[in-house]
Amino acid sequence: MRITVLIDQWSDKLEDHDPVADQVTAALLEGEHEVSYVGVHGDLRKLVDNLERSKTELVFNLSESFRDHLFGAVGIVGVLDLLELKYTGGGPGEFYMQQDKALTKKLLAFDKIKYPEFAVFSQDSDFETGGNLRMPLFVKPLRQDSSIGIGKDALVDNFRDMMKRILAIHDKINDAALVEEYIDGREIYVGVLGNSMPTAFPPIEIDFSGLPEGAPKIMSSRAKWNTRSAEYKGTKAVLADLPDELKARLQKVALDAYRALRVRDYGRVDMRLTPSGDIYVLEVNASCYLEKDSEFATSARVNGMSYVQLINEIVDLAVERHGIR
Ligand SMILES: Nc1ncnc2c1ncn2[C@@H]1O[C@H](COP(=O)(O)OP(=O)(O)O)[C@@H](O)[C@H]1O
Ligand SMILES: [Mg+2]
Repeated sequence: MRITVLIDQWSDKLEDHDPVADQVTAALLEGEHEVSYVGVHGDLRKLVDNLERSKTELVFNLSESFRDHLFGAVGIVGVLDLLELKYTGGGPGEFYMQQDKALTKKLLAFDKIKYPEFAVFSQDSDFETGGNLRMPLFVKPLRQDSSIGIGKDALVDNFRDMMKRILAIHDKINDAALVEEYIDGREIYVGVLGNSMPTAFPPIEIDFSGLPEGAPKIMSSRAKWNTRSAEYKGTKAVLADLPDELKARLQKVALDAYRALRVRDYGRVDMRLTPSGDIYVLEVNASCYLEKDSEFATSARVNGMSYVQLINEIVDLAVERHGIR
């Protein structure tokens, strides 16, 4: 099959991109596909031209942004739809539902899936939802990902600090602020693969034990990206050591959330597990990060699926969903 890997370029040079694109390409070549790249770098006309010229049968979508548009990822798949291209992962509607974390919760509520109680503070209006939130609270941008705008001061225990964070998110991130009850517990990610019969992979846990004394146990942006920081060095993803019953419950919640958010092909559900055994969904990541050593690929491997198999299975799922051949 002729597959085009769609990637975010960090400059106008095609080779300037996340290594995940090369890993996916290598896996697709091993799957005996014909593979080409198209880079996304802020020029919509060029993007459309390159996509049309590629004569692709399927786009493997790894793009997550367009310039600094808040809805860049949503827009890119919208363009793919309008060009009538077939692609892996979510479309604009699905992406929007998981990007807006308050909307996600409203969808989870219908299926009685637990989430942290919350309030939204928009830049241009009063509360959207809110009520009896109990301190401590966690303040984050409503529609960002990658822990953008999440530092150790995201965790607040008084009104003044909460307001400070809300205004900082309005002014510096230019997004609405989402204030949630802080869930003190273990952080668990469950990868899910599939459409009509999705499979949940073994839970991965974030081990916070290497964090400095007193540091909040959260995946801040430093913990995710600043490789030289104490937060990065002090956190690691490990296979969660859990009794079978709890593991099964986490996988069930992840599958329910995956379905509620209409995730297509693959995704990852981020959760917190309290000491009393309550499971709260923090967010659902449709088309999550596919790097070889990511939580998702690691949990697939633990479940007996090699990286090459995983990437080619995502293609097969998209092919089946689109009814190609
Ligand atoms: N309500 C919460 N309670 C406890 N920790 C939270 C809460 N919300 C977010 N966090 C912490 O912040 C991290 C990032 O939040 P998340 O909602 O997953 O945003 P992102 O889309 O940036 O990954 C989580 O992995 C978790 O460590
Ligand atoms: Mg997350």
